[in-house]
Amino acid sequence: MSHAQLKAEQIVDEEYLKQIEGARRHLHCLLQNDKQFAPILLRLAFHDAGTYDAKTKTGGPNGSIRNELSNPPNNGVKNAIDFCEQVKVKYPKVTYADLYQLAGMVAVEVTGGPIIPFVSGRPDAPNEQDSGALPNPNGGSNHLKDIFYRMGLNNRDIVVLSGAHTLGRAHKDRSGFDGPFTEQPLKFDNSYYVNLRKPDIPGLVKFPSDKVLAEDPDFRRYVQLYAKDEKVFFAHYAESHKKMSELGFHPRAPCSCSAMKA
Ligand code: HEM
Repeated sequence: MSHAQLKAEQIVDEEYLKQIEGARRHLHCLLQNDKQFAPILLRLAFHDAGTYDAKTKTGGPNGSIRNELSNPPNNGVKNAIDFCEQVKVKYPKVTYADLYQLAGMVAVEVTGGPIIPFVSGRPDAPNEQDSGALPNPNGGSNHLKDIFYRMGLNNRDIVVLSGAHTLGRAHKDRSGFDGPFTEQPLKFDNSYYVNLRKPDIPGLVKFPSDKVLAEDPDFRRYVQLYAKDEKVFFAHYAESHKKMSELGFHPRAPCSCSAMKA
């Protein structure tokens, strides 16, 4: 049994599950009142999980991002960490690793996206961990493949998870880019893919790493599919987001929750 499995079994008991439920409700309530935080919470969830290296089994959704805020790709993520702290104070047993992934899922849900089944028990990394790089917005398709394959994810995961850019915006002081990705940055829908198939729209941002999805033959067919069919986008998104949120994490087994039966 791996260290992570052992820890997950130690973490999750009846009281823990109660606190997770409380944290979920609290997050819902806070975000329903103010959806502005939804995009950065989703970004937080990706940046904690997206350091995973499938070969060395390091990084992943382990809460370590709160010690990695000086890493330039994490500019702005402190706002999401601080937002989560008010939930952590009320539900202190919930690990940071679980809290950040839960917050990302609630962010998708409250903005109109799919419900993503959450499984709890991620242990927090003891200290800052050496972990893999996050994707660069100026990168091409080989760069995206290098980064996401390292996590153990595939071409479909790359395209569908990039659909998270249906939410939020780029900030000049964080990434150098400036502006929202879609016309309604607090609505989770398939407009990101619809826009990718159109010429640049004044006022909206497309990174080179977004544009390449509509160009590379390994990616393009998914962009076409999701632009045409939002239902398929939501179904595939929920699958890949769940996968991302569990990189390197082995939930305790057997589990009787519906999420595990799916
Ligand atoms: C495919 C490679 C990706 C690259 C290169 C990338 C890069 C970036 C950059 C540079 C920003 C702008 C940061 C700022 O200026 O504030 C951003 C924003 C964002 N990213 Fe990504 N990202 C990628 C994938 C993802 C994934 C997989 C997710 C989640 C599943 C995600 C979620 C978001 C969200 C929600 C925002 C908006 C944040 C806000 O409004 O503050 N991104 N991303």
